[in-house]
Amino acid sequence: MSKLDKDIENMFLPSLKAAKLRKKMPTETIKYEVEEKYKDLGKGKTYYIYTYGCQGNMADSEIMAGILESVGYTLSNDPIDADVVLLNTCAVRENAEQRIWGVLGQLKGRKRLHPDMIIGICGCMPQEEKATNKLINSYEFVDIVFGTHNRDHLPYLISQVFETRKTVVEVLSNEGSILECAPKRRESTFKAWVHIMYGCDEFCTYCIVPYTRGKERSRAKEDILAEVKELKEKGYKEITLLGQNVNAYGKDLNDGSYTFGDLLVDIDKIGIDRVRFTSPHPRDMDEKAMQAMANCKSVMPHLHFPVQSGNDRVLKIMNRKYTRKEYMDKINRLYELIPDISITTDIIVGFPGETYEEFKDTVSLVKEARFEGAYTFIYSPREGTPAAIMDDPISAEDKHKWFNELCEATNEGYLKGHERFIGREVEVLVEGPAKSGENMMSGYTPNNKLTHFESTDQSLIGKFVKVKITKANTWFMIGDLVE
Ligand code: SAH
Ligand code: SF4
Ligand code: F3S
Repeated sequence: MSKLDKDIENMFLPSLKAAKLRKKMPTETIKYEVEEKYKDLGKGKTYYIYTYGCQGNMADSEIMAGILESVGYTLSNDPIDADVVLLNTCAVRENAEQRIWGVLGQLKGRKRLHPDMIIGICGCMPQEEKATNKLINSYEFVDIVFGTHNRDHLPYLISQVFETRKTVVEVLSNEGSILECAPKRRESTFKAWVHIMYGCDEFCTYCIVPYTRGKERSRAKEDILAEVKELKEKGYKEITLLGQNVNAYGKDLNDGSYTFGDLLVDIDKIGIDRVRFTSPHPRDMDEKAMQAMANCKSVMPHLHFPVQSGNDRVLKIMNRKYTRKEYMDKINRLYELIPDISITTDIIVGFPGETYEEFKDTVSLVKEARFEGAYTFIYSPREGTPAAIMDDPISAEDKHKWFNELCEATNEGYLKGHERFIGREVEVLVEGPAKSGENMMSGYTPNNKLTHFESTDQSLIGKFVKVKITKANTWFMIGDLVE
């Protein structure tokens, strides 16, 4: 009998079929409170969290860290010594998952030296049936497997490991709730993530996210504004509003008339210096949101605007629900409203059945849209999604060739996007010492351009400085501090 059969009654296992359902039930809001019985659960003990995937996962890790600290755990600088080690995982592409299996291999050795260490896997990967089955059957040293819907159960799950000494599996495949009042241990003292909505109802045919994250659900406007106000009071300089489709914000609230554009206007009034957001869906980018971007001083002139493909047939089978022309019309409107804007994108190469001619349409779009950056991905089949069973006749070798061809075009865009700032004075929010080059500090401009400048003054971290750009290359700009 496998471990899975033996313990199955005690487990909540994922179901992709259940995760796909949209029952249109009202969204439940859970208010996090530390239960008295768990208050000292982690007293004298430490934790460490590995985070993979998107900004949503980074924000979730800050919540899980906050929850662990609320029951007495303290952060360990080194995963080797930690009493609880969590891997917050991503399932969006095969290579994201491969990394996790690699880290698990290393953790197995550490657990031999430190048998009391609790290893937990959470995030998007456990939401997949295949991954959770593999974890239970082949990674018996993993103590907790939970997904994206029950982070608030973490103290309970840990206490269950102490009690039962068995693998505790609690992966829920429901539409999801909204967690409020959870404590957060924010990584930065000047930049913060603010979730405005969760989940995704788009069901792009290649994508696992709607299955791993549940339905689109918006946080109440009052809760978002209160969080932003608190960040402003604490001295935060920049916030990034998060959601898989940020401009679906509000569609599920009240009569749906208060939308993303309204939210930007209200956030702008709070007066935080910089507001960014990721990611909008091109179909839902409306005039109101574009006007808000143009008119709100705090909303930065950078838009990450995932296009995926420049060919109408491919866009259709991807279920993106817009055409190349509709996408370009929005891009052109944005350039009209915000002439200095920088637009970046996401692109998938080698979608099942894509031809070379169709791929070339994407390359031409990169130029036409004047993208100043792109995350480019080779299509990766995700079990349970419609695209995973589509015919895919193009060889991996060809896809790699196309990918390189695309990168030439996107790299040209990166370079041009930096070169256009040479001679200009830009405001940089300083992040810290530059990774490349001694005596250099770096930070980001309003257009989200990484900028290095000569300085060793650590007191600049978290502050705005003026930098005059003197040089540009593909990946960053260099300039001089303006006194
Ligand atoms: N919600 C965001 C994207 C989330 S996933 C949006 O739609 O804009 C981030 C990116 O991963 C996507 O934009 C897409 O380019 C890429 N991606 C998603 N699924 C993929 C897959 N199966 N193979 C390759 N790339 C994928
Ligand atoms: Fe995935 Fe599409 Fe939703 Fe983005 S919009 S998360 S690509 S299904
Ligand atoms: Fe990955 Fe899940 Fe984000 S699949 S990209 S961590 S929503």
